[in-house]
Amino acid sequence: MDKYAVIGNPIEHSKSPEIHTAFAQQTGEDIEYVRLLGNLDDFEGDVRRFIAEGGQGLNITVPFKEQAWRLADELSPRAHTAGAVNTLIRLDNNQLRGDNTDGIGLVRDLTVNQGFRMAGKSILMLGAGGAVRGVMRPLLEQNPRRIIIANRTASKAYSLANGLTHLGQVAGCGFDELEGMQFDLIINATAAGLEGKTPAIPDDALVKGGWCYDMLYGKHDTAFQQWGREHRAARSLDGLGMLVEQAAESFRLWRDTLPETPPIIAKLRNAA
Ligand code: ATR
Repeated sequence: MDKYAVIGNPIEHSKSPEIHTAFAQQTGEDIEYVRLLGNLDDFEGDVRRFIAEGGQGLNITVPFKEQAWRLADELSPRAHTAGAVNTLIRLDNNQLRGDNTDGIGLVRDLTVNQGFRMAGKSILMLGAGGAVRGVMRPLLEQNPRRIIIANRTASKAYSLANGLTHLGQVAGCGFDELEGMQFDLIINATAAGLEGKTPAIPDDALVKGGWCYDMLYGKHDTAFQQWGREHRAARSLDGLGMLVEQAAESFRLWRDTLPETPPIIAKLRNAA
């Protein structure tokens, strides 16, 4: 039986074992998938030990995604741009390939599961941290008209956007520079929701019938989902689908089969 794990610190809350076990049952793949509490001072040692003991792949979560990026022997283009790795794949030569499935997970949830057409659309991305950098390349590959990255600390949005201009129409700004702009889709990737807050963006930032998407999720609507509902959003979604989709793409990278995600998303939604 091939062994996989998710490593993070803390790790108890991770839903990945449940998700991957469900994928394995659905696809008939014979795998074991466990949680690993990563040592904050020895992430690399933890990874090396797991691989030495026969581990075939790892998911990486907070706070180790950047360390995993540095540790990987090779990187996919999207992981290279992300500056972070959430999936390690053991290759036949025992080297580790780093990938990042967060962006494709977000794109698939929005486009395949929810039916949003990204091409030609104006998108506002809130935040400029690792969560944003991690998803920008797959988003730009959908050919939106433009993506504005807006952040509380504007300088972080400028520098992130400046590093991405070779990939598409993207610019950075502060929240106060959004006055007068309107978007078809607003994605929240700030940590504001963890404190029950929403980023301070203008009330008319969303076009009538536009969509809101929060990368966070919870038992109840997130603060940003509520903002969307109060501001004419046709749909206001949380990030549960993205969580399952990023896992599905990791599973595909390891097992060469893409699980069917809707039943798993529904199961997690009902368990929440
Ligand atoms: P992550 O990896 O989740 O992106 P991060 O790199 O710490 O974590 O980034 C957190 C993001 O949430 C940043 O964009 C941060 O804005 P600043 O760069 O100005 O700090 C944003 N953020 C956190 N709390 C916020 C709040 N109350 N309102 C708006 N943005 C907030």
